[in-house]
Amino acid sequence: MTSRLGIIGHPIGHSISPVFQQAALDHLGIDATYQAWEVAPVDVGGFVGGLREPGTLGINVTLPHKEAVMPFLDEVDDWATAAGAVNTIVNRQVNGQPRLTGHNTDGTGFLRALREETGFTAQGRRILVLGAGGAARGVVLALSRESAAGLIIANRTVSRAHLLAQLAADNGIESAAIPLTGHELDTAVQSADLIVNCTTMGMAHGPAEGGSPLDSTQIPSTVLINDLVYNPRETPLLREARLAGAQTLGGIHMLVYQGAASFEMWTGQPAPVSVMLEAALRAMESRS
Ligand SMILES: NC(=O)c1ccc[n+]([C@@H]2O[C@H](COP(=O)([O-])OP(=O)(O)OC[C@H]3O[C@@H](n4cnc5c(N)ncnc54)[C@H](OP(=O)(O)O)[C@@H]3O)[C@@H](O)[C@H]2O)c1
Repeated sequence: MTSRLGIIGHPIGHSISPVFQQAALDHLGIDATYQAWEVAPVDVGGFVGGLREPGTLGINVTLPHKEAVMPFLDEVDDWATAAGAVNTIVNRQVNGQPRLTGHNTDGTGFLRALREETGFTAQGRRILVLGAGGAARGVVLALSRESAAGLIIANRTVSRAHLLAQLAADNGIESAAIPLTGHELDTAVQSADLIVNCTTMGMAHGPAEGGSPLDSTQIPSTVLINDLVYNPRETPLLREARLAGAQTLGGIHMLVYQGAASFEMWTGQPAPVSVMLEAALRAMESRS
């Protein structure tokens, strides 16, 4: 029997997960299909209940359902509980009964992309996080677990940066909150080993399309810049960083590595990451 996998969201048409997950399944000869399902918020409980059917390995979950699926699961792991968001559901038979578990692979995907693609490890490093929304929360939790030396969180709405700085402090990491512009930001940029953009600035079709939180004159050539925005492939921030001579990493890598972690949970096999990345890049190119 062909097994079933997929992703739910609302809307879901933009997702490239079906392309790179199916490429990985086909590459390994796994008899499974990965589909995109448009699920309205009112239908989430019913849909998740249906995942207990035999033949369903699990699903990815994207906006706006990452929190809403949690009450319908039998168990939620530490990462997802701390993040307050599930992006992966696994359906396993335990003692002959289906059991649904919830996971969050964003943090491990973020760390693995940095490590595998650039060799960067966070332990003992100074990191500047731009943004304080859902993606920033996952990044801050991941960096806390890696024992970063210090975190500065810069956000347009500074009160939200304070909440995230408190989360980092609760996890034993020295942290501070600052505005997304001005002298404090300039100082933080100069002393950072890694800058991670978790704002939507620069995102195609987003509220600040074409915008960059930093320009090339602010960016030292010694810093690594990771933009989580993956559309366009070279975001305005990555362009500014390239002009400044800094090392860069685009958001497509985290997207693929979080998907690779989900794939490994569903199939129990190492994900063919290079196959997934190639398929993801091709899908992005064909949509731009
Ligand atoms: N590569 C990946 O795998 C991956 C994973 C997750 C997310 N992402 C990307 O990360 C980005 C953030 O996602 P999210 O889920 O965290 O979104 P979110 O929860 O809506 O947070 C948006 C963040 O962007 C800031 N922002 C929005 N418009 C801005 C503007 N005009 N100027 C300055 N700051 C602005 C917000 O600041 P305020 O608090 O002031 O509103 C907030 O910090 C998106 O582009 C998403 O595609 C990528």
